[in-house]
Amino acid sequence: MKRTRDGSAKGVTEYRKPVQAAELWRGEIERLAWGGKGLARDPDGRLLLLSAPLALFPGEEVEAEVRWKARHGEGKVLRWIKKDRRRVPAGCSVASLCGGCDLWEAGGAAGELKRSMAADLLHRQLPELKDWRYVPAPLEARRHRIQLHWDGEQLGYHRRSSHQIVPVKTCPAAADTLSEAIPRLLDALQGKILPQRAQRWELATGTPEGRVVAIDEKDHVWLLESDGWHRNEAATSEAFEGFTLRHRAGGFFQVSPPWAVVAFRGVLEGWNLKGGTLFDLYGGVGLFSALLGKRFQARVLVEYDVAAVEWAKKNLATLDLDSECVASDTGKWLAENLGAAEDLILLDPPRSGLEPEVCAKLQSAKAETLVLIGCDGAAFCRDAQRLAPVWKLVDLVVLDLFPLTHHVECVGLFRK
Ligand SMILES: C[S@@+](CC[C@H](N)C(=O)[O-])C[C@H]1O[C@@H](n2cnc3c(N)ncnc32)[C@H](O)[C@@H]1O
Repeated sequence: MKRTRDGSAKGVTEYRKPVQAAELWRGEIERLAWGGKGLARDPDGRLLLLSAPLALFPGEEVEAEVRWKARHGEGKVLRWIKKDRRRVPAGCSVASLCGGCDLWEAGGAAGELKRSMAADLLHRQLPELKDWRYVPAPLEARRHRIQLHWDGEQLGYHRRSSHQIVPVKTCPAAADTLSEAIPRLLDALQGKILPQRAQRWELATGTPEGRVVAIDEKDHVWLLESDGWHRNEAATSEAFEGFTLRHRAGGFFQVSPPWAVVAFRGVLEGWNLKGGTLFDLYGGVGLFSALLGKRFQARVLVEYDVAAVEWAKKNLATLDLDSECVASDTGKWLAENLGAAEDLILLDPPRSGLEPEVCAKLQSAKAETLVLIGCDGAAFCRDAQRLAPVWKLVDLVVLDLFPLTHHVECVGLFRK
């Protein structure tokens, strides 16, 4: 189509939406929507989606800056007229600026808020699901990986909805050893001991928790020792009751591994899964193969990160678990008619969930049990809907693996 110099299509009257001026709006939060936004209703019936940096409670009265769209409004809370009595002061000095956590002021009620967000989503997206439960995080769960940003002068987290840096010297959401390592990383960057270029730095720990590494964007690794940072490419170990896994420092692993393993173990053992072959798809370094262990006679792990696959082979061999570990894209590897009746297909895809081709191929699987794990509830519900022609969701557990944020992990059991 021909275009005029301003880019509009020639001969077509250009329609520009008028930019809506922000309005002040006052009212009550009706309920929480998925993602932690507060849902409110204007007296004329139109819906409003409101965000607030450190949690919203249903029933709170707020003043917000709102922009109206065609059918609804969106805005951010400027001040509270009536606060919920469960709201507590944030336990972090940069909580209102930093984009890392969004439930600080929910305090001990965070679990209840997250449960209600999940209930709202499930009620809307999977109305046939009757049985599900929410498992809150223990108070001591802390992050074992944090991502900081260095701009050549400052080290910190990204500001909420921005790439500006909020400088930090501690992080109460992280394991103590990681938090204490932040000033040591800053000193080394300011002292020009570590590479100077502006970039993201990951601080991570494993087992023992005192072992802290810093990883730059080129995947170079430094180990923190008493006299400073030293190049060290050794793998990170994660020891749990009954097994140890190793992975490349900076490679994917659960954010709060000790809590994640307890939580997943509880769910999988509760379902008493066992049988022939376990298909551990999006398998990383073998966490679920290790967790299910000898409950299955054999396992096939598929993962596209080649380094993770090499670690999976070593991890599962150490555990004496007969395994085939394949470095491949799951969608490409997956064949029609996968498995046999006594097999389990377990899928733990990234945040975006299952690719449509994966859902399509799973319809013809011969295995009769499937477990889907998803860290984005909306993507999980979409995938459950796509699987529904063949796979019935018979149980769902929502795990709080990401304390202080609105994120949760959904673990669903499906049967043919
Ligand atoms: C949420 S992680 C789960 C890893 C593992 N199950 C665990 O809990 O440690 C998702 C994994 O899928 C891998 N991945 C992402 N997209 C993939 C794809 N299309 N095919 C195969 N693996 C993929 C990532 O490298 C990552 O290791």
